Amino acid sequence: LSTDEPAAAWLAGLAREAARPAGQAFAAANIALCKYWGKRDEALNLPVTSSLSVSLGELGTRTVVTVGEHADAIRLNGEDVPPEAGFARRASRFLDLVRPAAGIGYRVDTRNALPTGAGLASSASGFAALALALDHLYGWELDARRLSILARLGSGSASRSIEAGFVEWHAGTRPDGLDSFAEALPEQWPELRIGLLTVSAQQKAVSSREAMQRTRLTSALYPAWPAKAQADLELLRRAIRARDFELLGRTAESNALAMHATSLAAQPPVLYWLPQTIVHMHDVWGLREQGTPVHFTIDAGANLKLLFLARDAGVVAARFPGVRVVAPFA
Ligand code: PMV
Repeated sequence: LSTDEPAAAWLAGLAREAARPAGQAFAAANIALCKYWGKRDEALNLPVTSSLSVSLGELGTRTVVTVGEHADAIRLNGEDVPPEAGFARRASRFLDLVRPAAGIGYRVDTRNALPTGAGLASSASGFAALALALDHLYGWELDARRLSILARLGSGSASRSIEAGFVEWHAGTRPDGLDSFAEALPEQWPELRIGLLTVSAQQKAVSSREAMQRTRLTSALYPAWPAKAQADLELLRRAIRARDFELLGRTAESNALAMHATSLAAQPPVLYWLPQTIVHMHDVWGLREQGTPVHFTIDAGANLKLLFLARDAGVVAARFPGVRVVAPFA
């Protein structure tokens, strides 16, 4: 991808002739350890800061796309989604980027292993899987960087779901976003575990898109966020390189709490936590006081993601009976 290439020129230049009857793909969900929180460009999903995530192994989205009739037909987890629903409108807007002509529809069949819209990163794996499925349908064979840019246009965090493992999304500085893409880090960490602790599988009342925009524009705490994110990103890179779990967990937890603090100070405020979210935070801190290194992170929702090491899986499962444990590198 040449840096002088005009924005979206490569998108316009892609073949619109299907290479096979159906495109299929899987993309893993990802959990940010340093959050993406605030856009510098809303239309292109260009972030204010870089971010870093870890992917969720087999948990993610599986998508099949075919060229259909005159209008898009979207199925989510085996059920037709009405075209006016937010989910279908977002998918159709994304499909407009590659649609050969108005009046040509796509059939998209998508299945999420995790609840949709509950702060469990389904939009990340959803748009990444759709970008990959389109690449397969049309036989473009785009490289990871272009796929990440394409997925980013659907949902910012989707840029981090094209590749697996630890993934860093470079914020970039170009107005056209051609330098804003995610890349996998070379490090693996086989002992790392992520525990999904579901407090509520309900769709969140305020989308992350709306919450981060409102926070950026109205929160007195937002101006402190870019420096915090930059410092945390450096600590996380160091923790991953050195396999320093304490540093990784402490930094990820602090980053999540700072993100939520910025949105609490937005006007009107956004608070994603439910009473049970806070109960679990205290449980995590209690376990830590007793000597088990476990930390949490929380995205735009009420659910916690626990970070711990394989050797502590028994203690964590005993304290949190409903936890779903993922081994991202196993
Ligand atoms: O990609 P979006 O618009 O769903 O935003 C994701 C925002 C957070 O999940 C809260 C943070 C992140 O980096 O994933």
